[in-house]
Amino acid sequence: MTSGQFLAPVLQEGDEEVERSLRPRRLDEFVGQERAKEQLEIALEAARARGDALDHVLLVGPPGLGKTTLATIIREELGVGLRTIAGPALERKGDMAAILTGLESRDVLFIDEIHRINRAIEEILYPALEDFRLDIIVGQGAAARTLTLDLPPFTLVGATTRTGLLTTPLRDRFGMTFRLGYYEPDELSSIVRRSAGILDVAIEESAAEEIARRARGTPRVANRILRRVRDVAEVRHSGEITLAVAREALELLEVDELGLERTDRELLEAVLRKFGGGPVGLSTLAVTLGEEQDTIEDVYEPYLLQLGFLQRTPRGRVITELGREHIGGRGRPDEGLF
Ligand SMILES: Nc1ncnc2c1ncn2[C@@H]1O[C@H](COP(=O)(O)OP(=O)(O)OP(=O)(O)O)[C@@H](O)[C@H]1O
Ligand SMILES: [Mg+2]
Repeated sequence: MTSGQFLAPVLQEGDEEVERSLRPRRLDEFVGQERAKEQLEIALEAARARGDALDHVLLVGPPGLGKTTLATIIREELGVGLRTIAGPALERKGDMAAILTGLESRDVLFIDEIHRINRAIEEILYPALEDFRLDIIVGQGAAARTLTLDLPPFTLVGATTRTGLLTTPLRDRFGMTFRLGYYEPDELSSIVRRSAGILDVAIEESAAEEIARRARGTPRVANRILRRVRDVAEVRHSGEITLAVAREALELLEVDELGLERTDRELLEAVLRKFGGGPVGLSTLAVTLGEEQDTIEDVYEPYLLQLGFLQRTPRGRVITELGREHIGGRGRPDEGLF
């Protein structure tokens, strides 16, 4: 693993417990994503008033933007049970059938990485989502027949990094799709201040803003930087997070003024210097960097594309003029930070 993954928005070991403690529980504590929040609020209220299960919800967006958080908020706001499963962990049709029959009326079933469930299991979901019906085939050959079981009405919340990864029949069965975008610096700084409060650490306003600016639009990254900055504040200083302490820690972490980490810069450097600026294919780039293709596509590229540093073309990745400027003026990774 490269050091660049240290702060990258992917989940790492030990994250889950801290994330749970920092995770907003109610919709009004969830910062930003105003349109999604507004639509969800109306849908929740309507479902509650009717006593119905909420329509199925698909949450789409890069890692660390709040998909799991929203799934837990939905169940909290509905006051129902939650069953969480990871798409790749479902191996047999029977597993899916057991989970579905174990649901109570109006429960939330959260399937993370829903694009990674296998096709046979996905097909069980179609009638379950549409008619709350489970079709099971019993027996074999000429003796085979289909048993139909009624399921309680439930809400599927699916999370995925890209909608393009979902099959059309599955995608069509969601009543609502919310695309989560990167957060604004002022939203991130309010997340940082809220988290600092929960972690019981004093932080200057300007320090929260500095962390927010360098968190690549991602709450998980903002919280992760906050924790590392807190370490520096406690070990080297009096414990309070001042602007100077935040900057010192960010320099140690090799996070540059735009929030790029070493791996992001290595990616841009590789496209520029090894492949003449591109186009270079994803698989070639992955081998060069020693990273998985999926990691590059889901974790590193979205933010570089958002910054306008990189472009995806039919023939491969190309570095832009802006991208060239960003790494071009830089000798050492931490140069030009302050
Ligand atoms: N809108 C928000 N307001 C406050 N905190 C947030 C918000 N969104 C995310 N967070 C924080 O960021 C952390 C990561 O969010 P979450 O786990 O929901 O991301 P995710 O989209 O599910 O990521 P992944 O794709 O890796 O599963 C949470 O623990 C939470 O503390
Ligand atoms: Mg998640």
